[in-house]
Amino acid sequence: MSTGEHPLILAIESSCDDTSAAVLRGTQMLSNCVATQQMHALYGGVVPELASRAHQQHIVAVVNEALNEANIAKNDLSAIAFTKGPGLLGSLLVGVSFAKSLAQALAIPLIEVNHMQGHILAHFIAEAHPETPKFPFLALTISGGHTQIVRVNAPDQFELLGQTLDDAVGECFDKSAKVLGFEYPGGPQIDKLAALGNPNAFSFSIPNVSGLDFSFSGLKTQFIRVVTQEMKKDSHFVEMNKADLAASLQYTITEILVQKLELALHETGIGQIAIGGGVAANSGIRMALTALAQRKNVQLFVPELSYCTDNAAMIGISGYFKYLVSDFADLSVQAEARYAVQS
Ligand code: KG4
Ligand code: ZN
Repeated sequence: MSTGEHPLILAIESSCDDTSAAVLRGTQMLSNCVATQQMHALYGGVVPELASRAHQQHIVAVVNEALNEANIAKNDLSAIAFTKGPGLLGSLLVGVSFAKSLAQALAIPLIEVNHMQGHILAHFIAEAHPETPKFPFLALTISGGHTQIVRVNAPDQFELLGQTLDDAVGECFDKSAKVLGFEYPGGPQIDKLAALGNPNAFSFSIPNVSGLDFSFSGLKTQFIRVVTQEMKKDSHFVEMNKADLAASLQYTITEILVQKLELALHETGIGQIAIGGGVAANSGIRMALTALAQRKNVQLFVPELSYCTDNAAMIGISGYFKYLVSDFADLSVQAEARYAVQS
């Protein structure tokens, strides 16, 4: 059991291609270890079968590393939190099975966490910000698998206001980066190159999607089509226009996100925005959202990069909120590849 008044929670995240374990004491992060799987770059995307095998390989070492770094013995733990979904089923199963076995062996509670809620609640890790968002706030979660705007009323009340109808914004970045010759995930390369290019050099269309939903597959297809067609005419096209293509793509993506967030602010009257997910690392998006927040006089919460990408500390903080209200799972709990953020 916990030695102090705050619970000691071990958290496990294995929904995609990062095996991660963290230890939290209350809202304080004692460790947050991530084993990233590099081999997917060779295949241009995450290969589910390889991902689950790699989780299997890494999980024991990553959990031990998190406990050692936190200087916590297994017997001191108060509970174990794990990602139930959404994500790749084979990957989730590794984390779920491990968490169940350890909770049973230690005879401590098991806590199931929704990965998307985790991205949002990452803002409450004490190390993430000196100040935390106040409820209700709007969360924009942008990653390789998701694009969502969520109204967060309380740590256990999430209302989905809009989401992508097709591709996630990260997929648009990564597939577009691929035709420019970058390895998966190419989003960060687009970001670097965009800083050197002209955002108005190429004009890409903003999709016409009603309400707070998004669509990125049309933009991705348009980008790939333009590059492929121009390359047929001139094989140096990409080489000569790489920075301008990256800047124009990033500008269009940013515009889409800004327009939808502005509409969400208008429709809800909420004065705080918290962003998360790997794509929240993008410097153009950060700059544009900072400008939007100033223009609209709202508060913007942008966590450090390590809390944006997939990590177990975000699962640990979500577990902490559930621990406070004894919201525990029983040992029959199962992974869910599709698992809605709404609750
Ligand atoms: O949240 P995350 O680590 O994993 C999930 O998808 O859940 O997000 C990964 C995504 C990838 O698509 C990657 O290209 C994108 O985040 N990404 C970026 C940047 N850094 C990471 N996209 C654009 N600009 C960046 N700086
Ligand atoms: Zn994620």
